Amino acid sequence: MKVPRIHPDTIEEVRQRVDIVDVISEHVVLKKRGKDFWGLCPFHNEKSPSFSVIQDKQFYHCFGCGAGGNSYTFLMEIGKQSFAEVVLDLARRYQVEVKTVEPEQRKEIQRQLSIREELHRILEVTASFYQHALHQSQGEHALTYLREQRNLEETTISSFQLGYAPAGWETLYRYLVETKRCPVNFVEQAGLIKPRKNGSGYYDVFRDRLIIPIMDLKGKVIGFGSRSLRDEDQPKYLNSPETPLFDKSKTLFALDKARTSISRADCAVVVEGYFDAIALHEAGIDNVVASLGTAFTQNQLKQLLRFTPSKKVILNFDADNAGKKATERAISEVENLVYGGVVQLRILNLPDGKDADEFIKSRENGAVIYFQALENAPLWLDWLIDSLLADKDLKAADEFQQVAAGMIKLLNKLQDANQRNHYLTHCAELLSQGDARLLLQNLATLKSQTKSVRSRYQGDFQQNKKKQPTPSAAKFIVASTPENELLEQAEALLLRIYIHYYRYRENIVDSLEDKDLLFTIASHRFLWQQIIAIEDELNEPSLGDTNPLLRELYNRSSDFPQDMKMVTKLFNLDEKTQEDVFRADIRVAEAIASLEQVNYQKREIYCNQQLQNLNPATDLELMKYYLEEIQTTKKEIIRLEQIRLNFSQDPVL
Ligand code: UTP
Ligand code: MN
Repeated sequence: MKVPRIHPDTIEEVRQRVDIVDVISEHVVLKKRGKDFWGLCPFHNEKSPSFSVIQDKQFYHCFGCGAGGNSYTFLMEIGKQSFAEVVLDLARRYQVEVKTVEPEQRKEIQRQLSIREELHRILEVTASFYQHALHQSQGEHALTYLREQRNLEETTISSFQLGYAPAGWETLYRYLVETKRCPVNFVEQAGLIKPRKNGSGYYDVFRDRLIIPIMDLKGKVIGFGSRSLRDEDQPKYLNSPETPLFDKSKTLFALDKARTSISRADCAVVVEGYFDAIALHEAGIDNVVASLGTAFTQNQLKQLLRFTPSKKVILNFDADNAGKKATERAISEVENLVYGGVVQLRILNLPDGKDADEFIKSRENGAVIYFQALENAPLWLDWLIDSLLADKDLKAADEFQQVAAGMIKLLNKLQDANQRNHYLTHCAELLSQGDARLLLQNLATLKSQTKSVRSRYQGDFQQNKKKQPTPSAAKFIVASTPENELLEQAEALLLRIYIHYYRYRENIVDSLEDKDLLFTIASHRFLWQQIIAIEDELNEPSLGDTNPLLRELYNRSSDFPQDMKMVTKLFNLDEKTQEDVFRADIRVAEAIASLEQVNYQKREIYCNQQLQNLNPATDLELMKYYLEEIQTTKKEIIRLEQIRLNFSQDPVL
């Protein structure tokens, strides 16, 4: 079989999902000792175990024969397979969709990338244009609206980069296109103008509207929301259409600003409206994002979960009927995650059908009361059960039947035995309304109609035996962790500085060793191995050869074209990276802090997972241990986050 060239995204996704303990356990009997796993080395004959697997670093090492590496190298060696074959196997096993990169496709990817860059630029220019217009006389009514109707402060207006799209049909068009700032077809693709129906010329999508820029995670503008300033101007809210940059189902408003506090609070709040989010941020509750006027999707949830290790999410949609329907829809959209217990979902409905914005402004200390309401928000299941009971008369036989049927449906979806038992009793109590005789009867009825967890479990087990093992839902979520972007950048930076800046090599090696850090991204680790090998071989540099390491790396690119291709970008310096090199001392320290932080984040997630599997009756000591570990790691994460923040505030020299 000709093995296709696998897309880097796929390689990265697989890397995130695999757990080396799973992988190796299939070939070696592993026993846990301390925090590592040990077994008999499969690569040489031995009677006592010297083969160790270090889970938090995702690598193995044999103290007997020196074998070592990650999941990929293990499978390559043990199965005599190529890298690509191993990735494909793992992708199948962990159900990762495989994308390939054929030469034509690669060109297309490249082309798409440059389109995206151009669109980004246009949106940035547009955002500044709107922002500027808000403070001109033409935007006066919009600014007044923000100040007086919305009670927003200047700092909020500017931090959210709120703006005003002027009235008139082609103000933006003229500004962007007629001045030749931007090519017309790109401006159209960015969703800012539309061709006129009569076929000649274009008109602006946003006219005489308040503009709310929508940013991606990094704070780059990817689209706009807008609100009309007059009741007669419909629709009230108009958003950018979907574009190559703007995918509503994957975007959450204000996530760029909320991500740090979501991590810190270990909890995310989702509201319905832009202004709900803005008002809460202004009031200091800033772990809040808004959905974009579309249904809340699984993708959006996953975005959030990247930042809350305990997976706590609170939905605060409107308390009117539409809002309740939206909440129910959101719950069923993310059903497999909530019923499996991966997400701790809570639902907040504010009194009097108010939205968050109205609520906090309607009373003194509104924000404090809102905050308390968040703390007391019921779990989604309690909320669903309450909604089943709402307006129902349990004395009427048909309504009783309806409610009971709804409860049975919910109970049958619960996968955890303890949870099911708890809710069985709870539902029976609700149905009995304080009548003790009815309670037993109702409990028996509910029990008889909910399948027992054990029989379901056995069913699953038998099915699973035939299939390849699938990772648990919890692992799946955790695998798509936050850190990868940070990790990728930090590692790349260290390698680049190492390669180009002779003076910092010792510093980098010392810091890595000192902090017990490793390169974890496969291609980086490969490059690091090459660097070490080269340095072992290199003699004293000959005269005129300023960077023998770099020269030798280039030489090796042809020996390992596949592996090197992913890292050759580190061999060159552009303007941005040149600057990194000039500020190497700060950048190195920052990158090291990032790697450390990611390690702690992984540790915390790991401890959390372990905790989920323990039973308080029998594993109390272990539970205490993990809880303490989690507290320590949390503190470290905050400390490192602070260090990194300080660095990034450091002025450019
Ligand atoms: P609401 O109509 O509940 O409004 O829309 P709101 O946020 O309370 O608006 P204000 O306070 O009157 O300004 C909630 C969200 O639904 C989306 C928007 O994202 C809005 O923030 N929406 C609403 C639309 O996309 N289009 C609409 O026409 C209305
Ligand atoms: Mn509102």
